[in-house]
This record gives sequence, C-alpha cells and structure tokens, in this order.
Amino acid sequence: MATVECRGIRKVYGALEVMRDFDLDIDDHEFIVFLGPSGCGKSTMLRMIAGLEEISGGDLLIGGERMNERDPGDRGIAMVFQNYALYPHMSVRENITFGLERAGIGKAAIDQRLAPVVEALGLGVYLARKPTELSGGQQQRVAIARAMIKTPEVFLFDEPLSNLDAKLRGSLRVEIARLHRDLKTTSIYVTHDQLEAMTLADRIVLMKEGRIEQMGTPEEIYQSPDTLFAAGFIGTPTMNFLAMESTNGVLTDGAVQLGVPFAVRPGPVTIGIRPGAFKLNDQGGGLRGRVERNEFHGETRLVSIRVGTNEISVAVPAFLNVREGENIGLDADAQDLHLFDPVTEKRLHPVRER
Ligand SMILES: Nc1ncnc2c1ncn2[C@@H]1O[C@H](COP(=O)(O)OP(=O)(O)OP(=O)(O)O)[C@@H](O)[C@H]1O
Ligand SMILES: [Mg+2]
Repeated sequence: MATVECRGIRKVYGALEVMRDFDLDIDDHEFIVFLGPSGCGKSTMLRMIAGLEEISGGDLLIGGERMNERDPGDRGIAMVFQNYALYPHMSVRENITFGLERAGIGKAAIDQRLAPVVEALGLGVYLARKPTELSGGQQQRVAIARAMIKTPEVFLFDEPLSNLDAKLRGSLRVEIARLHRDLKTTSIYVTHDQLEAMTLADRIVLMKEGRIEQMGTPEEIYQSPDTLFAAGFIGTPTMNFLAMESTNGVLTDGAVQLGVPFAVRPGPVTIGIRPGAFKLNDQGGGLRGRVERNEFHGETRLVSIRVGTNEISVAVPAFLNVREGENIGLDADAQDLHLFDPVTEKRLHPVRER
C-alpha cells in the first residue's frame, strides 16, 4: 500500500491545456474520488497516474518514488475501466489469472491468490463460464477481481459502474466499499455521479475544467461548499439559488427580506438553500409563493414554488398535503443559508461550525 502525491501536474495536447496546477496528497489507505462534469479531466488525471498518458509537467510520486517516466507495469497500480474489456474467448478464471500467468507466476501460487479474490467477489460458481454468459454486474466483478489479484499498491477505477443499471450500481458500490474496508488499498475512483462520490469517498476531489475546485470530506463539501459550482454539483435535489442584494445588514430582492446573523458586505449576493432546508410555515415571516408543481418521490414530495421571479424547489415529507395553485409560506434557518458573491462565485461567509 502506498501514498500518491501529485505536485503541480499539467497536461497539454498540443496547444490545448487540459490539466493545470494539480496538487494532491493522498494518504496510505485513503479512498479518494475524482468527481466532476464530463470533460473536466478526471480520466486524463487517472491515466497519468496509471502511466497510460504522458505527464506534461510536474511530479507524480507513488510510495514516495517519482513515477513520471516509469512503465505502467512498474507503478504498483491496477486499474478497472468502465468497459470491462474481458477476453471473450477466455473463461472467467483465465480472465482473472491471465496477467499473473504472463508474469511467469506458477500455477500453485496463482491458485493460492485466486481463492480469496473469488471468495471476496462471489465469483466461485462462474469460474468456468465465458464473459458472454455473465450479466454486466458479474462481468464488472470479474474485472475488479482481475485488478485485485495483482495485489496492487494503488487501485484506480474509472467509472467502473456506469454501464450498469441503477440497482446493480447500488449493490456493486456496496461491494467496492466493503472490499476497501477489508483490503484498505489506497484507491482513486473516478465518477461524475455525486451520490457514488458521497457514499464511497474518504475525500472528494471536485474538479472543474482541468483544475481542483474543492477538496474535502463529503460532509465538508456538502455543508460548506467553497463556490457556486461546488454548491450546485453536490447534493440532490440541487440547491436553490436566489439573487438578492445586501443592504444595511438585510438581504432583499425588493419583495422579500431575509435577516442573517452575520455581517454580509453590501452588494449583490447569491443565496443558496438546499430543498430539504426549507420548512413550510404559514405564520408569516420568511418567503411566500405559489405552488407550481408537486412531485411525489416516495418518502418526500418535491414541490416547486414560485417566489417573486424565482422558482424554488422544496422537499417536504410526502404525507404533507400540498396542492398545486396553493399559496404557501416558507422558512429556513439562517445556518442553512449559503451566501456567494455572484461575480467571483466564491463563498462569502465563514465556514460554519457544527
Ligand atoms: N487525445 C486528446 N487530444 C486532445 N484533447 C483531449 C484528448 N484526450 C482528452 N482530451 C480533452 O481533455 C479534456 C479532459 O478529458 P477527460 O477524458 O479527462 O474528461 P473526463 O473528466 O474523464 O470526462 P468524462 O466524464 O466524459 O469521462 C477534455 O476536454 C477532452 O476533450
Ligand atoms: Mg472520463
């Protein structure tokens, strides 16, 4: 097992710079998730760590040793891809052990390493089958087994679950979390699915346009997003954003006023409030609006409420009887407001203590 250090890593394709100033220290045993929208550079960064893509600038250290020019096979890593890339003509067993055979490891030693891997991933009954005789989830488990049997220092996963249906994704996500709990191998996991990131990560590295936007535990980023982008990317349903003006210690959009228990510099302010942070309240105060839409989500309803020129999503318990067209009052605790500068898109007020 090993640490991974990225020091000012860059990537250029000709004149196009797709990654810049990437600085990250990953601790031994840590489970790191690279999260971000399509094209932000997650795969590029992972492939540079794997040695599948040349590093244009900066230093990559694994276990304290510089790896920039080291062959992929000598970096102590194993990678699991989105498309499992299994050999169709080989059995499950051969697919898992092929790499070890090619490395000249003897049959007895291979069998010894195979047993716990097969056990951990529940693949025992499938060993003689061909990949085409497996479901997508089973094929991806074979791909994970093939990576695991290498007993790498670092696991790299690039969207390993995105070809699977929602239910399988959920169950395999649990298996990956359990494997990491048992093996504790340092892991980097790429996804654009914020739920996967929240549930798996010790720390999330949120990326945007080839750089790190924010880094922290899922709780830290969820509770104190540094930027509008981080606030909007993490959390479902998505945070509401309201344009307001800060004057004389009060936030107002002309129609409504909100008091906040800390000083906010005068000028335009974007207020972020998560749909679950609202309370319906008809006792006056807070915001008022008209119910436009009411979606039943099972445990909750997601209610769209038009407040002035803004449409706000509010998550309420499903048993509450909210009717479309109804006028309704809303409140939120001041500690659940996130204030941003609309120009710099940076958080305006200090990180909350919880
Ligand atoms: N060979 C290449 N030549 C030029 N540009 C490239 C090349 N490979 C990737 N890029 C660009 O680098 C950027 C990052 O791509 P990358 O594949 O790392 O994104 P990603 O975050 O993994 O996205 P996704 O979620 O869609 O997989 C993109 O803008 C992409 O167009
Ligand atoms: Mg990618």
